[in-house]
Amino acid sequence: MTLNTISSPNAHPTILVADDNPLNRELASELLFDEGYQIVEAENGAQTLNILANRDVDTILLDVMMPGINGYETCRRIKDHPQWRLIPVVMLTALSDVESRIQALEAGADDFLSKPFNEGELLARVKASIRVKNLHNQLEETEKILFALANVVEVKDQYTDQHLKRMAQYTERLAQLAGLDATGQRDVRYGGILHDIGKVGISDTILRKPGKLTAEEYEIIKTHTVLGAQIVQPLRFGVSVGPMVRGHHERWDGDGYPDGLAGEHIPLGARIIAVCDTFDAMTSDRPYRKALSPQVALNELQDKAGSQFDPQLVEIFTFHLDRICAEEY
Ligand SMILES: [Fe+2]
Repeated sequence: MTLNTISSPNAHPTILVADDNPLNRELASELLFDEGYQIVEAENGAQTLNILANRDVDTILLDVMMPGINGYETCRRIKDHPQWRLIPVVMLTALSDVESRIQALEAGADDFLSKPFNEGELLARVKASIRVKNLHNQLEETEKILFALANVVEVKDQYTDQHLKRMAQYTERLAQLAGLDATGQRDVRYGGILHDIGKVGISDTILRKPGKLTAEEYEIIKTHTVLGAQIVQPLRFGVSVGPMVRGHHERWDGDGYPDGLAGEHIPLGARIIAVCDTFDAMTSDRPYRKALSPQVALNELQDKAGSQFDPQLVEIFTFHLDRICAEEY
């Protein structure tokens, strides 16, 4: 089993058909039912949202003109909802004019279909949407496995699983603010989750040693970077995430490990992880001390900008601290 094939797509995906006109609903529902889809129908926006709150849906066919909460507003609420935003929404517009499509796009619709719809086109669009949904499901599964893997180390290292969740969030947001595209942001997020995975190979006696480490023990701890990169390398995203894991203890001035890289020779993802990991470690309770305030942690980052950390990243992190650390929802 590879991480590419961990979730098998649902053989009978569920389509939510939302339209106030019963005849239109019936037309679409029958057609889709005959193709093997499971159908749920909604007469209006409120009912659509209510159904989503109570069951899993793989794609939504959403009419624009509905009484009460119209299609645009319904779509906006779906796309603003943390659990629903990845469900593809195909908007059914009676008019094929540009204006209604712009409005649908602004509301976050993933695709459009003009009414009266062409049967072949409807089926093709639904099929494409289901493909996108399956991809999202697969990514979600991948991430669950990554968290489970990385948690093994967090338990050894006496962190809570919240540390990993925050690392995923901080690294992804800093990557976005540093200008990386969506794939780059996702890779850095994975790096943030997996950066210390190599500690799985370090003995608990050394990891949990309360006092100062001997020089020999410190050399052993340092190997978690190389070991981590070896663990990550065979994964689908290993080519980009492996070097981040290997480089997350490099220093901007070249005095880090394992390769003594300096400045921009250190992979950007590794530099991002270093900043976020230091900030989160300082602002978390540890067995041997209480959490420090965000301001103290920022002072430390600024103090070491240009020696330990990428100064530009520290500047971005400082400037956008509220956004980076804001609760997800
Ligand atoms: Fe580390």
